Amino acid sequence: MSISIKSKKDIEKMKIAGRKAASVLEMLDDHVKPGVTTEELDQIAFKFITEELKCIPANVGYNGYPKTLCTSVNNVICHGIPSEEKPLKDGDILNIDVTVIYEGWHGDTSKMYLVGNVPAHAKRLVDITQQCMYAGIEEVKPGGTLGDVGHAIQVLAEKNYYSVVRDYCGHGIGTIYHEEPQVMHYGKKGSGLELKEGMCFTVEPMINLGSYHTRLLDDGWTVVTKDGKLSAQWEHTIAVTSEGFEILTLREEEL
Ligand code: MF3
Ligand code: CO
Ligand code: CO
Repeated sequence: MSISIKSKKDIEKMKIAGRKAASVLEMLDDHVKPGVTTEELDQIAFKFITEELKCIPANVGYNGYPKTLCTSVNNVICHGIPSEEKPLKDGDILNIDVTVIYEGWHGDTSKMYLVGNVPAHAKRLVDITQQCMYAGIEEVKPGGTLGDVGHAIQVLAEKNYYSVVRDYCGHGIGTIYHEEPQVMHYGKKGSGLELKEGMCFTVEPMINLGSYHTRLLDDGWTVVTKDGKLSAQWEHTIAVTSEGFEILTLREEEL
């Protein structure tokens, strides 16, 4: 029951893994459009990760998960399984979540894609959810706490009359995909684990338009909103530095 501290050298490796994971999401930008299936996106990503990046797609076989990507459309909160059915359609919002392993180190990241013309209320959920993620990340520094992170996310989400999913959270990450600590996306300022330089974890808020309650589909993976309303998620892998934080999975478009 302890949280691993990564050395500067370890974090250099995590940065390479993170950058590679980010490049998968960048590469997929041009492929997400009405008519494409999530299975097609999955196959493109698998080929890119194994052949171009020379990395291992961490999701494949993880606890029996069958695919490279998680593709979560509209009311799907997370862990949507790529499929040949139901091609993407105009107005969908889609989260693609990918993790790669480079020399044993994991990089885990996700972003929202807008498919064709997305209605304003959906686009707003997507934008505010990204702001929630950044608000949480901004709290990361030695001496800060995980409660600070969760609190910042919750305040911004609820100010916008959205809800924060409770049943799934961020996680420590390194040579192990999911390790301690658990990173809640809600909480009290000053509570929880005190952050120290060298800790690495994800911040990956799932924010719902309606209530935060979840339902697991019979496939054992797909998590949907109980009320059928929209959900959005963004994810970065973060390192705690002496100064504050470093985002290891930053994309070009975020600079
Ligand atoms: N990448 C997800 C996360 O953010 C986990 C996916 S596990 C899988 O932690 F098995 F569903 F791929
Ligand atoms: Co994660
Ligand atoms: Co992820």
